[in-house]
Amino acid sequence: MDRRHPVASHRKPHAWAAALAFSALTGAVVAFVLMFPWAATRPALLIALAFILLSILSLIAAWRQDRDMARQLTARDAMLHAAFLSTPALTLSRDGLIQRMNGAAVALFGLPREAALGRAFSDLTAEFDMDAVLRSDAQAGHLENRRGYWTGRRADGSTFPLSLRFGLIPSTPGAGGSGEEHVAVALTDLTHSHAAEAQARELHAQLNKVWRLNSLGEMAATLAHELNQPLSAATAYIHASQAEMLKAGPAADAGRPPLDLAKGQLLRAGKLIHRMRELLTIETSVLGRERVSSMIEDLAPILQMIGQDKKVEVRLDAEAEADGVRADRIQFQQALVNLVRNAVEAAAERPGGGAVHVTGRVEGPVYRISVEDNGVGIAEADVDHIFQPLTTTKSGGMGLGLSVTRTIVERHGGALSAQRSPSLGGAAFAFALRRHEEASR
Ligand SMILES: Nc1ncnc2c1ncn2[C@@H]1O[C@H](COP(=O)(O)OP(=O)(O)O)[C@@H](O)[C@H]1O
Ligand SMILES: [Mg+2]
Repeated sequence: MDRRHPVASHRKPHAWAAALAFSALTGAVVAFVLMFPWAATRPALLIALAFILLSILSLIAAWRQDRDMARQLTARDAMLHAAFLSTPALTLSRDGLIQRMNGAAVALFGLPREAALGRAFSDLTAEFDMDAVLRSDAQAGHLENRRGYWTGRRADGSTFPLSLRFGLIPSTPGAGGSGEEHVAVALTDLTHSHAAEAQARELHAQLNKVWRLNSLGEMAATLAHELNQPLSAATAYIHASQAEMLKAGPAADAGRPPLDLAKGQLLRAGKLIHRMRELLTIETSVLGRERVSSMIEDLAPILQMIGQDKKVEVRLDAEAEADGVRADRIQFQQALVNLVRNAVEAAAERPGGGAVHVTGRVEGPVYRISVEDNGVGIAEADVDHIFQPLTTTKSGGMGLGLSVTRTIVERHGGALSAQRSPSLGGAAFAFALRRHEEASR
């Protein structure tokens, strides 16, 4: 194939050649008639006239063809110019030094043209290898798409993904110095397409989570159903053995209270499963009159146990005055257990000894509950996603605690926030519930 400039190969020289030939013939005929007047017969004059006419016509045709071509070239030029302006492009010498750079490329790298010219292109684009380009089958005049991505470096040190296309510039005979432009490079900034890809990936991950959460909801429902059976059976057996003990007389009295406790725990387990299922299926629950200090006191042994397991000191300090709220006791306790468990897990990493403070305070119309620890705390960037379900940084974590807790708090009309603890330096999770004076009676 002809690899010359495409417009050059379209040029048709016929019109001008014909015009030239006719003009020459006309000249010859006219000269002949002038030199030999005796030959200027009527037919000869007619032939001369015909040639003059043909010359004029062919000249007009040639001129019109040129004008059309000029128009086409101007349009093409404008198109190339527009493309060239918007596409970052530059030329390189044989040793990879930048020789020329258009405005778009200058803007892309964010450095002055003077600073870029003569500089190695590999300075601006990590992993760029000029030898590989020269070895490649890049063809003169044609930009070849090269597979792979490069990393562009802006003047301010930031980087961006980049794809490159190369074309060899045909060398003119006699030239060949090191400053000669040898390769043309067109650059494409991939920042936006990469961002779109990342967004799509994120969306996919979200969908995956939703799907898992849905399955989890179904699992919880099945679990609640399946566990109900053995739990009620165990309660019935305990009941039966207590009846037997009653028959055995006072000797068996000491054994009854622990069995009562066991029954209470079985009931609690049943309720917990039920609530969990409610939460995941997003049903509404009825809020009753409760006192925050009493709900926390009830929970004290469990919270202390969670702390002891990890050798973390858990301090409870809830103001008992005017602490009436509307709450679902079990859900509230579940939320608090989740927060304290997270706090203990974070504080346990602390070499000097972990500490967790659970505080309850009256603040005007609300009662504020906070759980603070002296662990590593939460990075600013993570604050938004730790509340999303199935987000965990723990090897054995489920990543459900905070999302369930937030749902519970919101159902109680509060908002769960995460901050840095001013007193302990780790994380501080807090929420406030509207106080109801009559509830504390
Ligand atoms: N008190 C805390 N201190 C530091 N990070 C925390 C704290 N509480 C929660 N996190 C972070 O939030 C993530 C999600 O917590 P959670 O929803 O309870 O799930 P899990 O405890 O199963 O990981 C944790 O993995 C942890 O990275
Ligand atoms: Mg947790």
